[in-house]
Amino acid sequence: MVYCIEPEQVSLTDLTVGDTVGNMEKIVIEGGNRLVGTVEVSGAKNAVLPLMAASLLVDGWTTITNVPSLRDIATFNRLLSHMGAEVEYAKETGVLRIRTPEITVPEAPYDLVKTMRASVLVLGPLLARNHRARVSLPGGCAIGARPIDLHLKALTQMGAEISVEHGYVEAKADRLKGARIRFDYPTVTGTENIMLAAVYADGQTVIENAAMEPEILCLANALNSMGGFVSGAGTDTIKIEGVKELSAVEVDVIPDRIEAGTFMIASAMTKGNVLIKNCPITFLEALTLKLQEAGTSVEVSGNDVRVIGDFPVRSVDIKTGPYPAFPTDMQAQMMAMMSISSGLSVITETVFENRFMHVGELKRMGADITVDGKSAVVKGVRSLSGAPLMATDLRASASLVLAGLVADGITEISRIYHLDRGYETIENKLMGLGATISRVRADSVVPA
Ligand code: UD1
Repeated sequence: MVYCIEPEQVSLTDLTVGDTVGNMEKIVIEGGNRLVGTVEVSGAKNAVLPLMAASLLVDGWTTITNVPSLRDIATFNRLLSHMGAEVEYAKETGVLRIRTPEITVPEAPYDLVKTMRASVLVLGPLLARNHRARVSLPGGCAIGARPIDLHLKALTQMGAEISVEHGYVEAKADRLKGARIRFDYPTVTGTENIMLAAVYADGQTVIENAAMEPEILCLANALNSMGGFVSGAGTDTIKIEGVKELSAVEVDVIPDRIEAGTFMIASAMTKGNVLIKNCPITFLEALTLKLQEAGTSVEVSGNDVRVIGDFPVRSVDIKTGPYPAFPTDMQAQMMAMMSISSGLSVITETVFENRFMHVGELKRMGADITVDGKSAVVKGVRSLSGAPLMATDLRASASLVLAGLVADGITEISRIYHLDRGYETIENKLMGLGATISRVRADSVVPA
């Protein structure tokens, strides 16, 4: 089925969108099953969103394939529709088509930006093509303050006039000019925003201390196939030569390394034996090394990876950082695994200042965790016990699902709209591996 995205026509079965839907459902897990079988990884959410933003640079149809059906992608579709784009998405085939002959409303409104910070990715392309943009400031979110000062400083260096009024960034630039930009921190969406702005700038832009995440390479490849000149993506120095015109193309999305990593941990924790198909293992080196240190076997065969868990789980220390360091988006899931390890693990979060929201919920299941500033000390316990839990952010939700898989008894996780932002039908995929898991209405009474 192909349909145009209308914000008012949100359906529970077509696309999971909005807090209302997610608030109406919960995930119920009966723990204790060993996961065995095969699971396929979906396309990477964090690669799709910048590609969708790139579609604003051209007036023809951009086709993006391997697009997962996720709430964040539905939110970005609504944002593009708001700005005048025509959007079609076929859930069965994962094909997303976007065309923006004219940007009629160059604005990202607060209602959309507040639910998904990645909405700020439209700032660069709006300025580049439309010369004007009005984008709501994202404000704080559950995992930290997450400012966009580095995006704004870089755009100012490129000649944009920027002011902040009534909670909105007002930006204009008759013509952006190439500049030498050095980020104080290798911000991921900041790097992407500047790449998206610089493709139409006069002359060369150099981004130093650029983020090196695989999703940035995916964006650079797309911009190059559109007719841009981007080099160095994947390293800490990216060079972009401005061009006068780009054309619409078809782009295939890379597999989601965070979803793949979550299944690797699920297999490891349940003493499972899971074949993960289409697994981007080369982008998962930091996680793989830690899993092996914890006693997990990881066998690579082409694009597929077999993960075999072993008990007891050995404790390992983790320190998150920008790619290629251990991803902050895998920290919560690894903490769930360490909560049943045989020893003491120190988990240090250096990227976001408040990314331990899952600790309180894991402790309700019997985990022994003490947070001290940026570090959490996890003392492994023999077993976790199922409990009613509340999801607090996207990756925290995934950690609760993992904990539920190994806990004694029933775990019920509410507010799963967080999970639906980034995991495509996770309950079906886990069920296919032998987990006892279901999605039910939030008011359903679950038998003990
Ligand atoms: C992206 C990912 C997110 C991941 C994160 C870190 C997407 C859509 N999201 O988020 O899943 O968790 O990278 O790998 O790809 N910062 C500033 N000023 C800025 C920009 C960032 O201080 O202008 C700080 C942030 O507050 C944070 C750190 O830099 O502490 C990293 O942020 P950033 O890399 O920008 O993360 P996101 O792009 O938001």
